Amino acid sequence: MKGIILAGGAGSRLYPLTLVASKQLQPVYDKPMVYYPLTTLIEGGIREICLISTPQDLPRFRQLLGDGARFGLAIEYREQARPEGIAQAFLIAESFIGKDAVTLILGDNIFYGGDVFTRAFGDFKSGATILGYHVNDPERYGVVEFDEQGRAVSIEEKPKSPKSNYAVPGLYIYDNEIVNITKNLKPSARGELEITAVNVEYLKRGTLRVQRLARGFAWLDAGTSSSLHDASAYVQTIEKRAGIKIGCPEEAAFRQGFVSLTQLEEIVGKMPNCEYRSYLETEVVAEVKRLLK
Ligand code: G1P
Repeated sequence: MKGIILAGGAGSRLYPLTLVASKQLQPVYDKPMVYYPLTTLIEGGIREICLISTPQDLPRFRQLLGDGARFGLAIEYREQARPEGIAQAFLIAESFIGKDAVTLILGDNIFYGGDVFTRAFGDFKSGATILGYHVNDPERYGVVEFDEQGRAVSIEEKPKSPKSNYAVPGLYIYDNEIVNITKNLKPSARGELEITAVNVEYLKRGTLRVQRLARGFAWLDAGTSSSLHDASAYVQTIEKRAGIKIGCPEEAAFRQGFVSLTQLEEIVGKMPNCEYRSYLETEVVAEVKRLLK
């Protein structure tokens, strides 16, 4: 399974924050936003990742994440010259995807709780798996409607009158058909290759699975000033209360076995003295050593 992080767009809803730094590089409490989706992919066991962003912003992402080696990953970079839709990612990354299945995660989506994705990736065989999450404001999202048996019957992009409260979060798992499906898509009225159109096509073919996320699970998007603030407050609350970090790719890579304890110690040793470093030193490295004794 390959992974794509889509971190494009003008971030106009976050103006003027996004005048000089892309939306997905803005801080969500104590880390850059893109750390969260990156961690989600790592937790799902994905090691080959392609990050797509605008030509202006791509150098900053390279500076931040490099070739991925410090997380035990191989990270490639591709440009999305113009914001022509989420599904365009599959055309841009066609050579990266090759003959594999692929998970696309949006760079401003934050997921927290349980091992939902590890299971979703593990169970995935063919077709498409998308998620459904109960929200208060479904009209802001792709909306999925279910019948009495819990089967998905329709999906609409930002409908004025939503048929349910289930939004489709920005994490999508597809088999290799995705490339062909995207090639045959027509741009929508707003000139974009819509991810919802892709999901509708899988629904028509009878190969779409919609996994509903349980109540205890948190899905946050951080695309507006207010939701960015809410996401920061949420992360701070959990981190302070539990003494753990959400969205820490070094820790996730270590727990997945992508980097060894020695490698992690080396990586941490190169960090400046800061709260992030001391978390990794005391809560991860020292704790593991204590347990190994
Ligand atoms: C996009 C998708 C939408 C999805 C949402 C998740 O919307 O078009 O279907 O529900 O991401 O964050 P956008 O963020 O581009 O408004």
